[in-house]
Amino acid sequence: MKDLFSLTNKKVLITGSAQGIGFLLAKGLAEQGADIIINDIIDDRAQHATSQLRDAGFVADACAFDVTNGQAVNNAIADIEENIGAIDVLINNAGIQRRHPFTEFPENEWDAVIDVNQKSVFLVSQAVSRFMVKRQRGKIINICSMQSELGRDTITPYTASKGAVKMLTLVCALNLRVITFRSMALRRVISKLT
Ligand SMILES: NC(=O)c1ccc[n+]([C@@H]2O[C@H](COP(=O)([O-])OP(=O)(O)OC[C@H]3O[C@@H](n4cnc5c(N)ncnc54)[C@H](O)[C@@H]3O)[C@@H](O)[C@H]2O)c1
Repeated sequence: MKDLFSLTNKKVLITGSAQGIGFLLAKGLAEQGADIIINDIIDDRAQHATSQLRDAGFVADACAFDVTNGQAVNNAIADIEENIGAIDVLINNAGIQRRHPFTEFPENEWDAVIDVNQKSVFLVSQAVSRFMVKRQRGKIINICSMQSELGRDTITPYTASKGAVKMLTLVCALNLRVITFRSMALRRVISKLT
């Protein structure tokens, strides 16, 4: 039973994990045997969090990149896969909050919240799943919120983004399941022909 939940040698990438919930997830999963890859937008902070895990005896690496920048994301994921190892689990955790009355909400702050909370889930999941699909293996976990279900005043883009992450999770699962199923079916056909 214990082995069923073992994360020994599983590589877990957690976005926005230099602090807060992401860092606590990193510690908790490391305690269960996972090798952690700490991502954050600021390198120093990612390095500091990684050092804290290493000092506690865990396996950890830092990989700083901006989760809203598609090119940076693709480069970083390719670099992790080549130099750190195959990502077994991705946790899309990076998120920001901005508060203003609905009628006053600045467009640039709307964009920032949507980019970090929502677009990044698409970008990082897409980059990581390209490798996972090839391996026919992997897990992606998206951090939603009560605001995926409930509205609240002053946090309009946060609520919109977390609602979207819930549906993004569903559509990702549908897409990736189909790809995996098709590949497996294809494999079976090929193995019968050869
Ligand atoms: N704190 C809560 O009460 C709460 C409740 C429900 C859900 N959540 C969700 O949990 C997640 C973590 O929340 P938290 O409270 O720990 O946040 P936090 O602000 O403590 O940490 C978020 C981290 O994300 C990083 N980050 C921000 N923009 C980034 C970018 N562009 N690229 C890479 N990293 C970036 C930040 O530097 C920071 O270290 C978020 O998705 C949040 O919406 C939080």
